[in-house]
Amino acid sequence: MELMEPETPIRSIAVLTSGGDAPGMNAAIRAVVRAGIYKGLKVYGVQDGFKGLINGDFVPLGRRDVSGILSHGGTFLRTDRSSEMKTPYGQREAVRQLNNEGIDGLIVIGGDGSMAGAKALCDEGTRVIGIPGTIDNDVWGTDSCVGVDTALNTIMEAVDKIRDTAASHTRAFLVQTMGRECGYLAVQSAMISGAEMALIPEDPVSVEEIAQTVENAYKRGKRHCIIIMAEGYPIPMVDLAKQLDEMDLGFTTRSINLSYVQRGGSPTSFDRILASRMGYAAVELISSGQTSLMTAMQGREIIGLPLIDIVGKHRPISEEYLHISNILSR
Ligand code: F6P
Repeated sequence: MELMEPETPIRSIAVLTSGGDAPGMNAAIRAVVRAGIYKGLKVYGVQDGFKGLINGDFVPLGRRDVSGILSHGGTFLRTDRSSEMKTPYGQREAVRQLNNEGIDGLIVIGGDGSMAGAKALCDEGTRVIGIPGTIDNDVWGTDSCVGVDTALNTIMEAVDKIRDTAASHTRAFLVQTMGRECGYLAVQSAMISGAEMALIPEDPVSVEEIAQTVENAYKRGKRHCIIIMAEGYPIPMVDLAKQLDEMDLGFTTRSINLSYVQRGGSPTSFDRILASRMGYAAVELISSGQTSLMTAMQGREIIGLPLIDIVGKHRPISEEYLHISNILSR
């Protein structure tokens, strides 16, 4: 259903953040606002993600409204996981609110669920460009999403500290990272923090194999054994830690869930650059009449990928990284 003629020039856009917050979302909003104004567009922010869109919670944004937010974690527009956006009612109301306000295009910053919401609005005739923002890095088609690098740095710093205490007590530690269905953060952080093993939902192993890894680390003369475990791993971390602690493996075992700490904090330089480039690219795409695309980083380039090719797919785990990480931790 086309509500707007494809040739109609874009005069105004709105931007929203949706799903789990990620460091760098503010930097992306700032880029959209300032690039939009540079292009002569009127720019609005939508508060509370798709929920705010359905309710018509728009605020006009000028250049100074986004001053000082580049270095802030979270999202000043706030975010939400909207179940209504998955319904025909929610999608219809969202389109209606945009039309009522005279807004010609929308930029959606979020993860895979948010890209599905963006595509649903495109199917209703709204011009939408997505920007991938989630610490999980599970969005298909982009090397990185806004927020991933900061989260990895947070995990790395935490594991460096955990190793100090683990080595002092000759302990094994299970460290839980976020990622309900995706082991990306666990695999990458295992490599950058020298962990002995990554446990990921994509490739579960037996408790015996995990126990063997712990005992092997002890036999190799290590004073600690760190296992990074993705949130979506089929065995709950506390249960696994208890089982390992009760076995005679050389180490006693403790566990820690890094949880929401991973989602906060000031974005790294990488995330600020990525967010700024993607925000700018999203405005370029929408103001040149393009729609139904997501900005993606492939190599050093930022490109626009069709949302139809992204939604419903997940970025696969890199076998190469898993392999390297396993070898380097011995
Ligand atoms: O989508 C990002 C994420 O942090 C996941 O890794 C995690 O499973 C989920 O959000 C937690 O969601 P909520 O913030 O709704 O508890």
